[in-house]
This record gives sequence, structure tokens and C-alpha cells, in this order.
Amino acid sequence: MDTALESVAGVNPDHLGLLNASLRAPSAHNAQPWKIKPLPDGKTYELHYDHNDYLPDDPDDRDAYLTMGAFVETIVLEAPNFNLAVTVTPKLSRTGDDLFVAEVSFSPLAPGGQTDPLSAWVSKRSTNRNHYTKDALTPELETSLKDLGNALVEPKILKDVLTEASMKSWANPRFVHDLKVWYRSDKHAGDGYTSPQMHLSPVVTAALKFAFWRGNLKSKFMERIYSTRDVAMFTAAPKAAVLSATDMSPAALFDAGRRLFRSWVTIIAAGYVYHPFSIAIDEKSTAPQVAKLSNTPVPVALYRIGKSNKPPRAMSNRKPLKDVLLS
Ligand SMILES: Cc1cc2nc3c(=O)[nH]c(=O)nc-3n(C[C@H](O)[C@H](O)[C@H](O)COP(=O)(O)O)c2cc1C
Repeated sequence: MDTALESVAGVNPDHLGLLNASLRAPSAHNAQPWKIKPLPDGKTYELHYDHNDYLPDDPDDRDAYLTMGAFVETIVLEAPNFNLAVTVTPKLSRTGDDLFVAEVSFSPLAPGGQTDPLSAWVSKRSTNRNHYTKDALTPELETSLKDLGNALVEPKILKDVLTEASMKSWANPRFVHDLKVWYRSDKHAGDGYTSPQMHLSPVVTAALKFAFWRGNLKSKFMERIYSTRDVAMFTAAPKAAVLSATDMSPAALFDAGRRLFRSWVTIIAAGYVYHPFSIAIDEKSTAPQVAKLSNTPVPVALYRIGKSNKPPRAMSNRKPLKDVLLS
């Protein structure tokens, strides 16, 4: 155990390092919707998600289940780094607004116990929104990503779809509302996203705030400026990935979230970076086009992959452990 960690009521001190590290999991809009309930046995934790606490423009809860899957996989990959083994029991039961996602149970890692090569890379993962170089993916990386359920495509084939999705999103008040809810002017805020993190210039930030004030961009000219920026960045990447699920059930989306996280850590481990572009799947009219063009029946995530010469401009913040505990 890391003795520098602050004790948190109800949490076994041996688990503080792992739980704190796992809070670095990625989440849509950096909303961090996870809630952790320690059980009296001192080794088991219930993981919950509150539907009231999240994204109005996520009607099928796709982002929610993907995010919770990514959170659980972060715990799984981090556990050996803290000499712990973890057993995951998916629950996926809903009571009112509460979704009981899974139970995780920790035990000491047996000497020589099973570890995962990705564990060494999990803490190095972050989203990278810089421009990417043209370096092609290695065949090994492509194979690993395909094995995790990703279809790899040339980004240019999605150019028109992404343009349509971007323009429609900016005209959609619910999309703009979600962005407004999670936008943070304070760079020290514990959740949400800031302009530096999203690589937004002062001019683009001003236009974004205008959209927040109006409810949407309500201007074809502004919609075009935003979509051109998004699409140029996407199509310049050497590859795009579309992750598929078996269906849109909570269990399938949760499983996809776990695979999504493993895909992202796999990319980092191979020396590459990634950046999700969810809008083309969020947008009801463009999602079927993504499915067709990538030959994936149920696409649930889209992201670009490449190499970047620069680290992310700003790291995303996290809420402290005590703020995500349920008693
Ligand atoms: C399901 C899911 C969807 C996401 N969609 C987007 C997206 O469309 N655009 C984007 O820039 N980032 C997207 N992200 C990345 C989050 O914004 C990011 O994980 C969060 O801000 C934390 O930053 P980090 O990944 O660098 O730790 C998504 C993340 C998840 C888990």
C-alpha cells in the first residue's frame, strides 16, 4: 500500500492505491459517472451508475455502459500493479435510476500470479487530440485491434458521414446542451473538459460559448467551420477504428466498453495514440452509414489512430475517491 494516500472511510487501506489509480479511467465528456460502494467484508465493492447524473443526449445509454465497461477494465488492468487479483461479477440490474453494473472483489495477488502485459501501460493512457503523422500502423497492432472486435478503415471513407454528423450535431440543442453541462472554464475542475484539453483555440472557444448561449450554432457557416475542423483532423490520420458489439443490450455494451479500453491501452503500448469521434455514431442518421461503410453490424465506438509528436496539451482532471463513494 502507498502510505502517502489519504485514508477514506469504509475503504480497505490495501485497496486505496488501486481504486485511486482506476479513477483515471476514460469517460465520455469526462463525466466519471461511476459510484463505488464498499461492502462490509473489506474486499468487495459494488460499482453503480446513476442515470440522473449523466448525459441527456445518450438516450440508449451507449456511452454510459461503454464508460462503465472501461472503468471495470481499468480496475482489472491496474490490479496487478498493486499486487491484487480481481474477480469481476457483472450485475447490470436497474432499480429506478440506479444501475448496479458489477461487483469487484480483491484478493492478494499470489506470487507468480497471472498478470497482463497491458498492465504496464494502463497508467500511460490518455486521449491525444493533436494532429497525427502519416506513420502506418504495424501489422501486429492491426491484428490485436481486430482481435478485440475493431474494424480498421481508411478515415477518408468516413469523410462525408462525419461532415453530416458534425453539422447535424451542432444544430442539435441536446448535443449542445450536453457539451454545455460538462464544459469547465476552471482548469482545476474535478470533472468535465476544458478548452486546452480539447485543443480549442480562443476563437473556437468563443464560438462554443455562443452556441451554449443560443442553444445551438443556428448558423450553417459556423456549423461548416466546426465540421471542417473535426473532419480534417480525422481524415489526416492513417487509420480509423470502428468497434462493434453483438447488440445494444446493457451486457453487450458493457463488454464492448471493456474491449474499447483494452484497445486503447493496446494502442498506447504499441507507441501510437487515439482520439474518439463519437458523433458519427451518436447521430441517428449517420450511425447506419458507419455500420455499412465499416462492415460492422452494431458500431458502438469510432476513433482515429496514429502517431503524434506531442503529448496531450492538457491532462484531464478527476474527482477524488471520496466523492464517488456510496455509503
Ligand atoms: C465512451 C466514450 C466516448 C468518448 N467520445 C469522445 C468524443 O467523441 N470526442 C472526444 O474528443 N473524446 C471522447 N472521449 C474521450 C473523453 O473525453 C476522455 O476519456 C475524457 O475527457 C478523459 O480524458 P483522458 O481519456 O485523456 O483520460 C470519449 C470517451 C469515452 C469513454
